[in-house]
Amino acid sequence: MKHIFKQGSDVKAPVLVLLHGTGGTENDLLPLADAVSPESSVISIRGNVLENGMPRYFRRLAEGVFDLEDLVFRTRELRDFLDQVAVQYGFDRHNLVAIGYSNGANIAGSLLFHYEGSFKGAILHHPMVPIRNVALPDLTGVPIFIGAGENDPICVPQETEELSGLLTDAGASVTLHWERFGHRLTGSEVEAAAAWFKARFEEQL
Ligand code: MLT
Repeated sequence: MKHIFKQGSDVKAPVLVLLHGTGGTENDLLPLADAVSPESSVISIRGNVLENGMPRYFRRLAEGVFDLEDLVFRTRELRDFLDQVAVQYGFDRHNLVAIGYSNGANIAGSLLFHYEGSFKGAILHHPMVPIRNVALPDLTGVPIFIGAGENDPICVPQETEELSGLLTDAGASVTLHWERFGHRLTGSEVEAAAAWFKARFEEQL
């Protein structure tokens, strides 16, 4: 998969996995990595699917209606890619924290839903429920930050609460942060995510 790897100054700090929104690229979320954990290594990945020229991580049939077969296939593909780059760049596969926005948050959520140990933590900006009626793996001790909009027309609050409930039921420790800027990712949401990250992973920084 097309990607950028940046070696961080602190090899113990969690490695940040950046996953952009629809129409984005591997460059988009690099400023978020700097805001959240400037000393971390970063692997930023471009989605492998194109929708009218716009990169995404999996196909959708319509706005908010996911192609679940492709979602499952692409989730495994991304899992395998993370396994591979961990060996290639020599970082600890078990020390990954995802930062995803929108479609990128949805594929990060799908990894958490499908594979135990995908991430040791995750920052999900405006995620949806990626798939329903699957048994989630044990997520005990996995901290997850969800940034959401009270007036987000794409990820509506009920769905945010549903996602939070599914992750919590699987043992994850979910922090919900609400904003009022629709589907937009604001500076204050990034600041909240950065403060959350520092509190959760301080001993590693
Ligand atoms: C998705 O398709 O993953 C969500 O609708 C969010 C988006 O990318 O617009």
